[in-house]
Amino acid sequence: MVKQISILGSTGSVGRQTLDVIKDFPEKFRVLALTGNKNVDLLAQQVKSFQPELAVLTDPEAARELSRLLVGQKTRVLAGEEGLLAAATYPGTDLLVTAVVGFAGLKPTLAAIDAGIDIALANKETLVAAGRIVMEKARARKVNIIPVDSEHSAIFQCLQGSGPGQLQKIILTASGGPFRNCSRDELAGVTPEQALQHPNWSMGAKITIDSATMMNKGLEVLEAHWLFSLPLTAIEVLVHPQSIVHSLVEFKDGSLLAQLGPPDMRFPILYALTYPERWSNNFSKLDLVGRQLGFAAPDLEVFPCLAYAYEAGEKGGTLPAVVNAANEVAVAAFLKRRIGFLDIPGVIRQVMDGHRLQKDPDLDAIFSADSWAREEAQRIIGTISGIS
Ligand SMILES: NC(=O)c1ccc[n+]([C@@H]2O[C@H](COP(=O)([O-])OP(=O)(O)OC[C@H]3O[C@@H](n4cnc5c(N)ncnc54)[C@H](OP(=O)(O)O)[C@@H]3O)[C@@H](O)[C@H]2O)c1
Repeated sequence: MVKQISILGSTGSVGRQTLDVIKDFPEKFRVLALTGNKNVDLLAQQVKSFQPELAVLTDPEAARELSRLLVGQKTRVLAGEEGLLAAATYPGTDLLVTAVVGFAGLKPTLAAIDAGIDIALANKETLVAAGRIVMEKARARKVNIIPVDSEHSAIFQCLQGSGPGQLQKIILTASGGPFRNCSRDELAGVTPEQALQHPNWSMGAKITIDSATMMNKGLEVLEAHWLFSLPLTAIEVLVHPQSIVHSLVEFKDGSLLAQLGPPDMRFPILYALTYPERWSNNFSKLDLVGRQLGFAAPDLEVFPCLAYAYEAGEKGGTLPAVVNAANEVAVAAFLKRRIGFLDIPGVIRQVMDGHRLQKDPDLDAIFSADSWAREEAQRIIGTISGIS
């Protein structure tokens, strides 16, 4: 049976790798809808190669340009959030890959769940900001949320075949990023170019900076909390510089199971696309001969973002959405050289401290908290950079 796939964020790192995987199995997958934000040329190429029924660019000018490039093609072109929602709920989709970056992924993910479409979830910010609402809705609609993030895919794979109540602890591994051995002082002068040099993974800019600050691991702790229904006290982070052990689970009897593989996102992407099956593929496999695997505790003094994420998760309510929004704004400002590397945690801390937390927020409260945090982060960045 051919599986019909749609991809939100097909022009990004995860989206492109998903299409790479799909192209290896032309008889087994069909692409229905693809989306990007502004990357007209790449989406036009993807449309020509995969012939989806719908192509969306959220940026309206870029979408107009795409329509011009695709004259004579059967693919329909849409723009804006309306287009993104149409792609998320495209009729006939068996699995939606959510590979948009940031909070922008929340609305289309919820729309897809409402439409009863299973989700291969890469967009972790959705669960960070609104994990309770998303997971409750998915359970109510009997929609599967299959993780794409390599760590969560590892945990998901380790848990296959284990009954309820057996899981005691999750151990998320973290590469430690490019500044793993740096002191706080050494981080002060770090440039975007240096922060964008991840030692093991090739990813989009935002997640690469998140890896350098270790906020990525903080977001993943919150993602794991919602995906696997464990308290935050049962989710640990272990620095593992080789990125070979993608994560571990500890069961009630103290036994640990780990999932290993090369640092290649095509493995967790393929598993999410084929779950519960496993398919042979031509990806380079892991050779363990001569490999040294190391593990260490994270340094929360040097990488406070990880501690902020735990704190946000413990306090709950609107705070995780606020931390996520402040981080998105601060990372964008760092990439534009408006603030320094150490200002990223600084901005997040100030926004957290200024937030009046709302317990048990509904979706409107989460959107309001997100908007408030973005404005507040911009205001603080204005005072740091001298440009408001
Ligand atoms: N990259 C990885 O290896 C990896 C691993 C695990 C998890 N993830 C997670 O997967 C998600 C995507 O990461 P990525 O590295 O693939 O990001 P990326 O390379 O920056 O790609 C992001 C995608 O989202 C689109 N986009 C950006 N802003 C948008 C908006 N406001 N509305 C709609 N679409 C928008 C981009 O379009 P344009 O190309 O047109 O800008 C692009 O298609 C993130 O949540 C990340 O944390 C990534």
